[in-house]
Amino acid sequence: MKVLVIGGGAREHALCRSLSLDPDVTALHCAPGNAGIAEVAELHPVDALDGADVARLAAELGVDLVVVGPEAPLVAGVADAVRAAGIAVFGPSAEAARLEGSKAFAKDVMAGAGVPTARSYVCTTPEEVDEALDAFGAPYVVKDDGLAAGKGVVVTSDLAAAREHALACERVVIEEYLDGPEVSLFAITDGTTVLPLQPAQDFKRALDGDEGPNTGGMGAYSPLPWADPKLVDEVMETVLQPTVDELRRRGTPFSGLLYAGLAITSRGVRVIEFNARFGDPETQVVLARLKTPLAGVLMNAARGTLDAQAPLNWRSDAAVTVVIASHNYPGTPRTGDPIEGLAEVAAEDAPHAYVLHAGTRSEGGQVLSAGGRVLSVTATGSDLAQARDRAYKAVGRIRLDGSQHRTDIALKAAEGR
Ligand code: AMP
Ligand code: GLY
Repeated sequence: MKVLVIGGGAREHALCRSLSLDPDVTALHCAPGNAGIAEVAELHPVDALDGADVARLAAELGVDLVVVGPEAPLVAGVADAVRAAGIAVFGPSAEAARLEGSKAFAKDVMAGAGVPTARSYVCTTPEEVDEALDAFGAPYVVKDDGLAAGKGVVVTSDLAAAREHALACERVVIEEYLDGPEVSLFAITDGTTVLPLQPAQDFKRALDGDEGPNTGGMGAYSPLPWADPKLVDEVMETVLQPTVDELRRRGTPFSGLLYAGLAITSRGVRVIEFNARFGDPETQVVLARLKTPLAGVLMNAARGTLDAQAPLNWRSDAAVTVVIASHNYPGTPRTGDPIEGLAEVAAEDAPHAYVLHAGTRSEGGQVLSAGGRVLSVTATGSDLAQARDRAYKAVGRIRLDGSQHRTDIALKAAEGR
């Protein structure tokens, strides 16, 4: 099978790494990719937001399957364009991707499907904003309705700050605060059959101890030793299957990766958000644990034959990933700095620890930072403590001027807290 992956972050590096290890994959392409992905896939320039350009590239390369990584191309209809060109694609239509592209649409689907989520109001005027903030009280949860790369959400007890963010958005969702730990659960679906993956936990805040601003994600681990073993079954029954059924019922079937961001509250599981694609950095740890070759699973979802998919096999290993981010991330990051130590990790820590590239590019044989999140250092081990040790040992070998990373990824879980 010849596969083309669209995107160029650590998630796409993780996808390409898994696909490159799949004996069924005879050719692997990525567009636009990054300096790390270039080691496992052939890179091509593309306008990832332009469906016609992606379909042209896929046809030129003669690929059997296109896998669309990020949300922006999905929301822009890239999967539709590829499908219309007669090429199998893993990723939802633009209409189904609104589940991620519009928080208000997601709330409407959840209401229709009876899926438990935070109570919320959609506001477009300052009067509505004030009423909603007043109705829920602190802590305030204020979400920009549109796509914002994980940075459109403000959770604060400061009324003035909540108001300021709300008024800066054209359309805003204000909702009830959900307490309790967060879980990310991904499911692969063809629009009818739903195949859950293993749960992971992401660290959204920039700083240790969950301080600082929200980011795209600073690290992740899987499995979750503290979670109820019945969690996946429960979420399948109360969230994933009803959502997929509701979207099919509406005439906009969702095929691809359905990402449920969940809060485990004292009153039960609640959906915080849906995403329409693999999560980053959770994908890095989930795929590190998946034993079943990936390409066939994605192809079954793309072709609508997921009912024929054999059950997934998982390694008993734990996995941890630690994100190394640029100076000033999640603000405007500094880029163009040289990254040192990659060869040392490859020589000393492989195969248990490895570096997945997020925002990097190469220039004259040197790898440079090229984005906010730069690297996602991933490791496996017999338990979380070992995976953590290996990941941080590798992180310690990387030198990037001004870079930042959290030192407490998976710490509580590894210590059984
Ligand atoms: P989202 O983009 O919707 O995932 O929101 C980003 C982060 O904000 C989530 O991962 C949570 O940490 C936090 N958050 C979002 N909604 C809520 C909520 N209703 N209650 C508490 N925290 C929330
Ligand atoms: N890890 C959060 C996200 O992918 O949106």
